[in-house]
Amino acid sequence: MLRRIVIAAVAVCALGTVHIQAQKNEFFRPKEVWNDTEGNPINAHGGGILYHKGTYYWYGEYKVGKTVLPSDATWERYRTDVTGVSCYSSKDLLNWKFEGVALKAIPDDPNSDIHPTQVLERPKVVYNKKTKKFVMWMHIDSPDYSKAEAGVAIADSPTGPFKYLDGFRPNGTMSRDQTVFVDDDGTAYQFSSPEEKYVRRFVGMAREAPAVFKHGNKYYMLSSGCTGWDPNSAELAVADSIMGEWTVLGDPCTGPDAEKTFYGQSTFVIPVQGKKNAFIACFDMWKKKDLQDSRYIWLPMMIDKQTNKITIPWHAEWNLDVFKKK
Ligand code: GAL
Repeated sequence: MLRRIVIAAVAVCALGTVHIQAQKNEFFRPKEVWNDTEGNPINAHGGGILYHKGTYYWYGEYKVGKTVLPSDATWERYRTDVTGVSCYSSKDLLNWKFEGVALKAIPDDPNSDIHPTQVLERPKVVYNKKTKKFVMWMHIDSPDYSKAEAGVAIADSPTGPFKYLDGFRPNGTMSRDQTVFVDDDGTAYQFSSPEEKYVRRFVGMAREAPAVFKHGNKYYMLSSGCTGWDPNSAELAVADSIMGEWTVLGDPCTGPDAEKTFYGQSTFVIPVQGKKNAFIACFDMWKKKDLQDSRYIWLPMMIDKQTNKITIPWHAEWNLDVFKKK
């Protein structure tokens, strides 16, 4: 009898092992629920990726709880309370371990920029080699988005805890959707959309959701139009110098719903380590009435060898092998 119990236990363990292995992500499946290594949906929206010492770290808005439309809202500023910035780690970009909430909201101080009632969006982390600090930049705002500031937090470890320092308007101008890019010489640049983006007359002219990358000595910026949580067309721009002139190249997306960015909005472009000319374009697929369930659309960027033309073709399922083919 005892032997039978032992055998049964071994069988259960074996099944358990099989189960865990089956959960390993082998493919990127844009728009589908993407689970972390514990089997929970990844919760890191408007995110950015840092590569540090052999590990990728994904930081994003940790959107927990009910989505509400404030009663005084004059436009669709659906929101969840600020809970903080989550951090996930990965070696292969497919399987992400939840490292916890790296920057936590401050519920005890109603005057804090990161009090739950405020807005914290699009966190991006860079490593400062001089100070050996991990530096997080983020969009800080009042609930009606009139504050328009950039906030900064620092940590000694990539997984945090991050300490919030302050928010301000860089060069005295409004800063909303933002990203940070570190050039090869170690200089970091913050890109933000200062426009009063919700004024009708700017629609079609202003850009936001910037994601910057460098390829072949040129700087590229992927961005979206300004339609709040709703999708619009992506646009790619190129410059020889990071401070411009930037030349618009047009919409790089191809395939079904390309003109709506596949229902996504740009947030980051990841240079894939160990592969040449391999970049992943990361988009959020916002679910404005249930922001926590917003999904991710990660797609490979294809760079034509002859012309250097960059496209982002739709793939329902893909993995990093796609880069070997070109
Ligand atoms: C979008 C922006 C998001 C968020 C949203 C609020 O335009 O890209 O990050 O700010 O508006 O409606």
